Amino acid sequence: MDSGRVAGVSEMAVIEGPGVPVTCVIGLQWGDEAKGKIVDLLTPQHQIVVRYQGGSNAGHTVVAGGQSFKLSLVPSGIFRPEVQCVVAGGVVLNPGSLIDEIDGLTGRGVAVGANLIVSDRAHVVLPWHVEEDRLMERLIGGGEAIGTTLRGIGPCYRDKMGRSTAVRLGDMYRDDFQDRVRRIAETKRHILAGLGASADEIALDADEIFRRYRGYAERLEPHVADTTAYLLDAVEAGKRILFEGAQGSLLDIDHGTFPFVTSSNSSGVGVSSGSGVPGRYVDKMIGVVKAYTTRVGGGPFPTEQDNEIGRHIREVGNEYGTVTRRPRRCGWFDAVAARYTARLGGVDVLAVMLLDVLSALPELQVCTAYELDGRRITDFPSHVDDLRRVVPVYETLPGWQQDITTVRKMGDLPRKARQYLDRLSQLVGRPVAIVSVGPDREQTILA
Ligand code: IMP
Repeated sequence: MDSGRVAGVSEMAVIEGPGVPVTCVIGLQWGDEAKGKIVDLLTPQHQIVVRYQGGSNAGHTVVAGGQSFKLSLVPSGIFRPEVQCVVAGGVVLNPGSLIDEIDGLTGRGVAVGANLIVSDRAHVVLPWHVEEDRLMERLIGGGEAIGTTLRGIGPCYRDKMGRSTAVRLGDMYRDDFQDRVRRIAETKRHILAGLGASADEIALDADEIFRRYRGYAERLEPHVADTTAYLLDAVEAGKRILFEGAQGSLLDIDHGTFPFVTSSNSSGVGVSSGSGVPGRYVDKMIGVVKAYTTRVGGGPFPTEQDNEIGRHIREVGNEYGTVTRRPRRCGWFDAVAARYTARLGGVDVLAVMLLDVLSALPELQVCTAYELDGRRITDFPSHVDDLRRVVPVYETLPGWQQDITTVRKMGDLPRKARQYLDRLSQLVGRPVAIVSVGPDREQTILA
């Protein structure tokens, strides 16, 4: 990777001074906010980059050394050999996928060795989790299906909470691992049958699964560590750590648009449960938003534009899922939702991404409040049925209709683009520190 290309790294001291060693980057919408670009920008000022929740449902593309890489579990800090990458215990880990990712990286000249450690507490995604995910979505179907990424994420977290059928990475090195897989497979046969699986799908070969996973365990052994102890030592030693949230806060299992959420704490609250690092050590929370809103999968989306505007945003913004390639649903910026998640995450500053995608539009709408049963509200509803019924109250702002992809300073943005950003900032109640006007690192404006 050409670190000389990093845009304005020295200027990033504005955001990341030496007194701000622990930073967290979280998405404030329904995921896909281009957090990867912000993490990539901030990585050079950190010694450790940590993934702490989610699993192979996450995906981002990183361009390094002129090559494009798709990463799901491995933190993007892997492209900088001096950075320690940590996959913490709150992540659900599909070991086969992790090994494929490692092989994909090493095959293209990226060193993956001691610079990647993976928590022995991370829960393991097993073949039945993927089956359960698929069968459950099929069984529920229609508008009630969650529209998951079908990576077995929910079933793996369900087993974690249920405990008796869960496997953690550390369990794969124990003498009783084969017995454990046999016992769990027996239970899972009943569960899969209950979900309407065919005879083939129920015929889990526990010993084959054991052998495969034992093989994975051997491959991953050099990376497996007690990451909680590692990270606690690191914060106590004042190391500069960057926490990389996956998905977005509105998909948070506790605080998102339940049940149309993912199964982990993808808002700011997940940092400490997922990594073991107390929240009091996080010095800076950066909330990442798109200049508009997208959602992939089912569930209410008040500002959705299922029309020409939405299609325009989808095409200009290339709004197709990184993991599943599903077209993303697109709509206007929802300040009610973003204000809620910015508060929930204790966000200090905003990074507004993909501003350039809106450049051609003559007028922009921003949702400033909702109408619910004739009442105007600005608190985000806690029940999905209420969220389904809200009518967004919009404010119309003029578009700038100029190419902004070459702008590098806030003052050089068209006045109307600055007005738009100012209004978002005012409504969300947080200053805008970073604006992205294109996918390249250089296409970044620091306030
Ligand atoms: P799951 O995480 O695969 O269980 O999917 C649950 C919901 O979260 C679905 O609506 C998915 O589309 C959504 N989701 C999961 N991961 C991501 C992501 O990385 N970006 C955007 N949406 C996601």
